[in-house]
Amino acid sequence: MQAWKGLLEEYREWLPVTERTPHLTLCEGNTPLIYSNQLSDRVRANVYLKYEGLNPTGSFKDRGMVLAVAKALEEGSQAVICASTGNTSASASAYAARSGIPSLIVIPHGYVALGKLAQALIYGARVLAIRGNFDQALQFVRESAEHLPVTVVNSVNPYRLDGQQTGAFEVCDALGESPDRLCIPVGNAGNISAYWKGFKAYHEKNVTSFLPKMCGFEAEGAAALVRGQAISNPETFATAIRIGNPASAHLAMAAVHESGGCIDSVTDDEIREAYRLIAAEGIFAEPASAASVAGLLKLYQKGDIRRDETIVCILTGNGLKDPDSAVETAAIEPLVIDASLEHVTAALEH
Ligand code: F0G
Repeated sequence: MQAWKGLLEEYREWLPVTERTPHLTLCEGNTPLIYSNQLSDRVRANVYLKYEGLNPTGSFKDRGMVLAVAKALEEGSQAVICASTGNTSASASAYAARSGIPSLIVIPHGYVALGKLAQALIYGARVLAIRGNFDQALQFVRESAEHLPVTVVNSVNPYRLDGQQTGAFEVCDALGESPDRLCIPVGNAGNISAYWKGFKAYHEKNVTSFLPKMCGFEAEGAAALVRGQAISNPETFATAIRIGNPASAHLAMAAVHESGGCIDSVTDDEIREAYRLIAAEGIFAEPASAASVAGLLKLYQKGDIRRDETIVCILTGNGLKDPDSAVETAAIEPLVIDASLEHVTAALEH
């Protein structure tokens, strides 16, 4: 078996990689596409979960970040900057560390899951927590970057979306064809746009013979695309997608319309239920990831899922990033006992 070489090598001909692009990698990509027995039974279709939490920093962001940072280095950039709800910052600071350049991270104070903050800090990022939300942080980053010798590595950087196309490539490579439908969480709307770009690229070169329906799901308290207007105070327990003014709104809506898919919202309760359901099958994804599964269940309840269609739900981030949400949602405490056979027998019977 040949070792995986990372996305810039493996998908070289599909990406804007030149002889001058540094061979940057943390062996990102190549994440598993796991058949879900429980979800498939439940919605009477073939449901796969693309577990992006197994990327090197625990989220899909690594796919775009490896290319964005490599191109920044190629262009002689000395530092990177981003706004983030947590995952982008973890990824940017890891690839910056790998490259030996500094990273500046701007996060909404109090709204970043503990694991993500820990990542940025240990990778050595300079972390600025602003009094404001993600949308304000991104605005601040874009304005600041005009005056500083830094490269913005949010998904407004086109290389991010180019790199994230590889998620779609891997799905098609694993299935041997395009899925009928993709269900994906939507926050700043970059990933849904990137997947659509990737599916179209494979289809244009006849790697696949049809295109999937793109179904994006926002959290109800942050559903700017569903409502058709920006939300100044977005709220959801899925902090990764607590975004009220998605930067790639136009691309995302084009993906939905061109593919005959949908954009819809899911409530925090629906996200929580899906979060539990995925874990009950042995897969730990973070709350925002569960929006894709919550959305699928909503479509099924509306009668929109055809029997036996092939559906891929993207699980965007690893559950370990947000231990507080897991402990709170599980709502059970460990049983404290004396180490005796009597107690363990009682626990088994319970
Ligand atoms: N899921 C997770 C776990 C995320 O971290 C994000 C975005 C999304 C879904 C939504 O993806 O923005 O491309 O629509 N997180 C960004 C961040 C905003 O800063 O880490 P999107």
